[in-house]
Formats: sequence, structure tokens, C-alpha cells
Amino acid sequence: MGYKDQIDLSKLPKHIAVIMDGNGRWAKDKGKMRIFGHHSGVLSVRDVVEGAVDLDLKYLTLYTFSLENWNRPKLEVMAIMELMVSTIHKEIANFMKKNVKLNAIGDLDLLPKKCYDELMNAIDQTSGNTGLVLTLALSYSSRREILHAVKNIARKVQEGKLNVEDINEEVFEDNLFTKGMPNPELLIRTSGEFRISNYLLWQIAYAELYFTSKLWPDFRKEDLFEAILDYQKRERRFGMTSEQVN
Ligand code: FPP
Repeated sequence: MGYKDQIDLSKLPKHIAVIMDGNGRWAKDKGKMRIFGHHSGVLSVRDVVEGAVDLDLKYLTLYTFSLENWNRPKLEVMAIMELMVSTIHKEIANFMKKNVKLNAIGDLDLLPKKCYDELMNAIDQTSGNTGLVLTLALSYSSRREILHAVKNIARKVQEGKLNVEDINEEVFEDNLFTKGMPNPELLIRTSGEFRISNYLLWQIAYAELYFTSKLWPDFRKEDLFEAILDYQKRERRFGMTSEQVN
């Protein structure tokens, strides 16, 4: 029996977040340029999205480009941006067929115009889809996102629209880029690194963390299913005792 058949569909996480890591090392292992790894990483993205759709998962959020990634060699950054433009353009038809709604979080105004426009066009075209919400974290930094929320809230207080006493977790979450989305219950990171890398720091407070040594271009939907199965075997206590939860 494959991993998929063992998954309890009634206990699926609503939201899975993924740190796609290891493209560069994957390419280097093969004696190729790093960008070759990113191109192969797109095949993994396609397969994993298909797996998420097969399961009727509600939210999948992929760490596609961090704010810190802008510091990479200019050539690599440009190549990733071009890859993004062509991938998003090519995938629209597939998103429509699979009822996938595209979304993006991050400092999107830093993206090159062509990339920004392509992204907005795809978000617009898929906005009526009701299946999987596929969020690309692009030019994303969780600390920036939190600062952005703090500034928004401070502004509302300053303008007399919000009382300090009324600031609670719900108000805070309403000011994050992920507003309206449930927090991820499962965070997957590939490539054998045990770090969070400034990703969804507020949102993953209670997420189960799953690390695999597989490099992202080797990660496929079967690996996603395996991670979900692992998640389903865990006991989520949220600070309570095992007896209370059961
Ligand atoms: C991390 O591997 C990967 C990235 C920074 C880029 C991820 C981008 C893609 C997979 C393209 C996806 C495109 C779309 C439209 C979703 P790394 O370069 O940090 O690898 P390394 O740690 O081995 O150097």
C-alpha cells in the first residue's frame, strides 16, 4: 500500500508550509550550474501541487524566494526571476484545470516589474478558483512581515481607530500577510538543514516540524504523503497533557 492510501483524510492538515531547499547542492552534485537545480525544483513544485490537489488539501505555502535571497549573485537572482515568470505563465492553464487559486506573500514590490505583472495576472486569473490555495512566499521575510503588522497596528492606534487594550492575537493575525489563512499545522523542510530561516515565525507556533534529507529537486508527491503520514502519527498536545488530549 502506498503512502497516500494510508492517509486518514479526516485528519488532514488544512495548511502545509514548505521550505524548498537544496536546489543548488542537487545541481552541484551533478556537476551542473545552480540554476539547473532551480529548473528541476520547478518539477518538484508541480508534482507536490498535484499531490496536494489529489488530497484536496486547502492551503499549501511554498518558500520560493526569501528577502535574504536578493543578496545572491546577480546572475542567479535574475535567472530565478526569469524562471518564475516563465513557470507562472506556463502553469496558469494547469491551475485553472485543477481549480488552484494562486496567492503570494512578501515584499512583492521588490520583484522586477515583469515578474510582478506575471504574478498579479496569474493571481487575478485564478482568483475565482475554490480548490487549493497555493501561496508563494516571495521576497519574504517573517521578521519584516511582523514589523509590517506592528506598524499597521500602531498606525491604527495613533489614528484612534484601535484601543491598545483591544490588541490580541486575532487583531495581530489580521495584520499579517497571511490574513484569513489558518496557521500551518505542518512545516516541511528539505535538504537536511534544521532551520526555520525567517519563515512564518508567528504562524508556525504550534506547527509540527518535518525535516527530510532529500534535496528539493528529488522531493515528489510521495514524499509529501509520507510527511503527512508522519504528522498524523504525532500527538498534538498544545501545552496540555496526553490524557487531556485523548
Ligand atoms: C533553495 O535552494 C531554493 C530557492 C532559493 C529557489 C526556489 C525556487 C524554485 C524551486 C523555483 C520555483 C518556482 C516557482 C514559480 C514556484 P538553494 O538554492 O538554497 O539550494 P542550496 O541550499 O543547495 O544552495
